[in-house]
Amino acid sequence: MSRILKTAANAVEANKAHYDATAVDYEAIPDVMAMGKHVGDAFKRIVRPNPQKTTVMEYACGTGIVSREIAPTAKSILGIDISQGMVDQYNKRRTDKMRAICAQHGIPLAQQIAGTQLADVRFDGIVCSMAYHHFADPASVTSTLAGLLAHGGKLVVVDRNAFEGDGMTKTGQAHATAQAQTSPAPSGGGRPHPHGGAPEAAPDNAVPHQNGFSEEQMREMFTKGGLVDVGFEKFKAMIFGNEVEMFAAHGTKPE
Ligand SMILES: C[S@@+](CC[C@H](N)C(=O)[O-])C[C@H]1O[C@@H](n2cnc3c(N)ncnc32)[C@H](O)[C@@H]1O
Repeated sequence: MSRILKTAANAVEANKAHYDATAVDYEAIPDVMAMGKHVGDAFKRIVRPNPQKTTVMEYACGTGIVSREIAPTAKSILGIDISQGMVDQYNKRRTDKMRAICAQHGIPLAQQIAGTQLADVRFDGIVCSMAYHHFADPASVTSTLAGLLAHGGKLVVVDRNAFEGDGMTKTGQAHATAQAQTSPAPSGGGRPHPHGGAPEAAPDNAVPHQNGFSEEQMREMFTKGGLVDVGFEKFKAMIFGNEVEMFAAHGTKPE
């Protein structure tokens, strides 16, 4: 197996294991609910969904915090995640127009979606929140998601803006569990470290992009994925009690 494929498989396995184990506690992590509202608001502003017409997909949907913000304004919303634990949490609030499926790594996404009948495998809007830093190959994910948009449809990606210094798992900002975040800081001070007494926190190999993404990287991925009218908006938000710089990148599939 090539090094890139091995890294991708490792990241997927690490994420599955981590989020399967922590799904039940996910929504108790400080600031994740408020972040979901930010992302939902950004999606609604950028996509302007119509409850009669707009079909939406949330990729790496987790427990569905963002989907729940968007659902009242959309015709349907399909969540997709590689963690069955997260999908189970999402589907506790399943309705006729909102549900999630667990994606199998290595099987084309379009094929997996085709069975759900929630959309004709083409979406008017796709949102991906706080997950790009978990993907080994975010450029390939971008192209896959762009390929699943209807003409005129929009992709909205929210993640950390590029930053210097210690990465997310070192600063406890890679979506550890609530328990990990409320554990006492390890001796030596600072925020809880994933390997410093909080074994539940996201491990390094679940976060291949520790320092977020620059505007240039996002624009390149969106453009290579065939999207046009690419935009990149920065905003500030709280993660684990710290104010950080985020972005909402968006692009449109040409008519
Ligand atoms: C930090 S959580 C974000 C969840 C949700 N988007 C939110 O904003 O609340 C990251 C999510 O990405 C999912 N994930 C990680 N790698 C993935 C992949 N390759 N494909 C799909 N989902 C993935 C994880 O299982 C987890 O649910």
